[in-house]
Amino acid sequence: MRVVCTSSLPIDLGAEVLTRFPDARVDVPDRWIGIERCDLHDADALVCLLMDRIDAAVLARAPRLRVVANCAVGFDNIDVPALTAAGVAITNTPDVLTEATAELAFALMMAAARRLPEGEALVRSGRWEGWRLDQLLGVQLLGKTLGIVGMGRIGQAMARRAQGFGMTVIGARSSDGPAAIDELFARADVVSLHCPLTPETRHLVNRERLARMKPSAILVNTARGGCVDEGALVEALTAGRIFAAALDVYEREPEIDARLRACPRLVLAPHIGSATTEARTQMAQLCADGVLAVLSGQRPGNLVNPQVVIRG
Ligand code: GLV
Repeated sequence: MRVVCTSSLPIDLGAEVLTRFPDARVDVPDRWIGIERCDLHDADALVCLLMDRIDAAVLARAPRLRVVANCAVGFDNIDVPALTAAGVAITNTPDVLTEATAELAFALMMAAARRLPEGEALVRSGRWEGWRLDQLLGVQLLGKTLGIVGMGRIGQAMARRAQGFGMTVIGARSSDGPAAIDELFARADVVSLHCPLTPETRHLVNRERLARMKPSAILVNTARGGCVDEGALVEALTAGRIFAAALDVYEREPEIDARLRACPRLVLAPHIGSATTEARTQMAQLCADGVLAVLSGQRPGNLVNPQVVIRG
């Protein structure tokens, strides 16, 4: 029995596996090394991160693979049909990162509304000349409308926070169709994305949708970079067509388009939605639980491809 991990983890995966399977070999590197550098020829289980692309080419290197535990809730890095056809179970990490991700989305919304990075840069530059009546004027959130695209667990957690701040919440799912999303973009003062990246949601935020937004509106993306056409967003911000935006995720991570880095009114975070000690520890634990369940012939609760047959 061999368990391979593409990264270090905040839990002792080796100890957990060995308690259940004393003869197992568990490979956990001391940092993320990436799937390409992992020896998978006799791997029964794989724990991977969202930067690891898991597809038919990986399966070809891993003929014994029974389970892939993706240490993320999103699984657009995994070719689900290919793994399902090969009988490989896939698990993800829902629930345990819901609140952390909603907290970051909320923080980004507030940072964009109140232009916090600009203010911080001003203070750090040593050029702040003191209080001014018209300095760094932002947008008040009380009484405003938050439009949430993707009313799943994280979208609902964002909605609860916004209600506590006196905002009106409207929501749409990508399955509601383009007209419903168009209407949300036109009505909302803040649009926050909480949908998975799928062929339907790729570039869901495009030039046309940005043009529908109010000039005072804010866009927040903590979902996946591919949901936003970054070129169109830079154009809209540079032309002042919307008030501000905040991104935690990018189309080609970790590359950040130079135009984004130079763009005004844009808050940038390095994909840290779930980056709390609490969430990351529980995510790793869910991965371990998923691996141990499948290797023991049981169905994990967080199975992405429930149609797969778990062999005992
Ligand atoms: C992070 O982006 C995740 O999908 O968990």
